[in-house]
Amino acid sequence: MLQVSTVPELRAALQRMPRPVGLVPTMGAVHEGHLSLVRQARADCATVVATIFVNPTQFGEAADLVRYPRPIEKDLALLEGEGVDLVFTPSVDEMYKPGFTTVVHLDGPALGFEGEARPGHFDGVATVVAKLLLQSLPDSAYFGRKDAQQVAVVRRLVIDLDIPVTIAVMPTVREHDGLAISSRNAALSEEQRLAAPAFFLALSAMRDRYRSGMQDAAKLEEGCRALLAREPLFEAVDYVAVVDEQTFAPWTGGGPCLLVAAVRMGDVRLIDNAVLD
Ligand code: PAF
Repeated sequence: MLQVSTVPELRAALQRMPRPVGLVPTMGAVHEGHLSLVRQARADCATVVATIFVNPTQFGEAADLVRYPRPIEKDLALLEGEGVDLVFTPSVDEMYKPGFTTVVHLDGPALGFEGEARPGHFDGVATVVAKLLLQSLPDSAYFGRKDAQQVAVVRRLVIDLDIPVTIAVMPTVREHDGLAISSRNAALSEEQRLAAPAFFLALSAMRDRYRSGMQDAAKLEEGCRALLAREPLFEAVDYVAVVDEQTFAPWTGGGPCLLVAAVRMGDVRLIDNAVLD
């Protein structure tokens, strides 16, 4: 596995590598969710590029950015173990050169939910994803469905900016008890970790209700809130909503939809979703 840290090195390396190229963007702290993206990219593409960049512009609080785990040696070993050909590990200065001022801003799918809870977050995500796509010009780029709003933002971004790439979305990878794998899970106490799967169970119960014919968004949201309220360690429910998968507008029937939710356990905010199909 070749490691490069500058854009010219990335472009030169890619010129020597066969197409199609698959890109797996990460912020490191690589887990099974990321590895499932790499495995799909490996199956689809002749060259797999992964990026590790803890993007400062998508963090709200400086403290979260400082606390973000950076186990670089372990990450590199995991990516190499899955057959990644090239890993791009730029510095903050490489990505945001002096005088940097361009921001990719979306309304539409970036509004509400995570966009409201984390002001500026999707500007940071959209800007860095646009940069990574333009730096590497992959044929396909891989994202996890767990961050469903991010997926909707990235899909809109590549349409709006005519970036010629296929966005591949992989299912959420879960622990044995259903908890969606996330770097945030490590911050849960033992007690919180034991309670956390109630989140997945509430979403799954509503998905089952939808499948058995109960397709009223307000009732599904209410049912989900009622189940979440049963777990005292969910100190707050930030949102529960049935949304259109592409636009993140309220679902009004017809077309693919998702039940999305965010709950707080102490300092940890968990997000998850269920595909209603
Ligand atoms: O999902 C993530 O890890 C990040 O938001 C991404 C897409 C790598 C952009 O920094």
